[in-house]
Amino acid sequence: MVEISRGLRDVTLTETRLSMIDGMAGKLVIAGFTLEELAPKATHEEVIYLLWYDHLPNKTELEAFRQSFIENRHLPATTMTVLRAAAERKLPPMDALRMGVDTLSLVDPEIENTSTEADLRRAVRLLGRFPTIVASYWRLTQGQEPIAPSTTLGHAANFLYMLDGKEPNPAAVRGLETYLNTVIDHGMNNSTFTARSIASTRSDMVSAIVGAIGSLKGPLHGGAPGPAMDMVFEIRQNAATSDKSVAQEAKIWIDNALARKERLMGFGHRVYRVRDPRADVLGGAAEQLFAQTGDMQLYTDARAIEDVILQALEEYKPGRSIKTNVEFYTALVLHGVGLDSRIFSSVFAISRAGGWVAHILEQYAEDELIRPAAAYSGEYDRKWVPLAKRA
Ligand code: CMC
Repeated sequence: MVEISRGLRDVTLTETRLSMIDGMAGKLVIAGFTLEELAPKATHEEVIYLLWYDHLPNKTELEAFRQSFIENRHLPATTMTVLRAAAERKLPPMDALRMGVDTLSLVDPEIENTSTEADLRRAVRLLGRFPTIVASYWRLTQGQEPIAPSTTLGHAANFLYMLDGKEPNPAAVRGLETYLNTVIDHGMNNSTFTARSIASTRSDMVSAIVGAIGSLKGPLHGGAPGPAMDMVFEIRQNAATSDKSVAQEAKIWIDNALARKERLMGFGHRVYRVRDPRADVLGGAAEQLFAQTGDMQLYTDARAIEDVILQALEEYKPGRSIKTNVEFYTALVLHGVGLDSRIFSSVFAISRAGGWVAHILEQYAEDELIRPAAAYSGEYDRKWVPLAKRA
């Protein structure tokens, strides 16, 4: 009897120097740094550089790296045409991102060159344009024209600038940098696995990244923070129009959702059996941000809702240890930064793309085709029936 590992649970595919997750201790290490040490301090360009080159950049390296992103922000006309067509059809932002990134082969002047150096240049050409695609698409869906990217701002600040054309507030930029650094890489998550799986066939980087975007879109992976935020707002709205507290309304909302066998977005994880350490880092970032933007009540309400959910999950699935994951506090941070919940997953992709690239490069270096097996459960010995005789 073949032993099946559904969902490849507990299967170790390969080695990586990029990140380490200890699901029992609630610990995440990114290229040698604990998450807590790295995420709140670094700019996002520094963390991308760290993953791609395995050391922190010095001043000259960082300036050159930053500049290379600045030079790769403009979208080709065809990409913009695709985004306009997607906006007319009101397609989800993640679909627009997937379609937009696919067109970026058009700005690849060295498509035949598959050396690591060419792939690193290719990666900058792709990643530099991720924020432009997301911001341009968001504006198009709001009936507004896209804003040309800044020629001076960093990766995170430029993204915020392209959403409304205003110089972004430093607290929002810091909140966004911390978020982007927190979610850039996370072991063999589904989208990273997808990217590596495509790269393992020696396919190209654009193909691997487009596949990974498709994976990240799913609500069991990167699609959770939007619904998590919607849940918080719905519960607060219910409390505002009743004589019950936020915690009491949360209990009603959650009991109903669990009775319908729904999953509560922002809770549970395949690897963590304790609280996701990313939730703490982002919880801290959210608290700082809300203290500055003046909406501490939202933060307090979210904490109260989280407590009720954790208690309900303990009762609903005793012993399963379903704890808060990264997405609950992602929702709060991104809302605090001023983003609409409809683009939360696309902002996740802006960050995770840095991790995908690093994994794709590791996979190319390993050069091992990923090809698991499946145990056949179908029939044997069927006999061919000509079309005219089939029922
Ligand atoms: N709400 C309600 N029930 C849950 C939840 C939840 N959030 N998470 C797990 N369960 C239940 C699940 O229904 C299952 O019950 P049963 O054994 O009776 O079928 C049991 O707990 C075990 O769940 P599981 O499906 O074996 O857990 P998993 O490891 O396959 O899934 C998960 C992990 C993240 C897909 C799941 O916890 C979930 O759906 N969470 C909600 C969506 C979410 O927040 N996604 C973001 C994940 S974090 C971002 C990332 O790193 O990708």
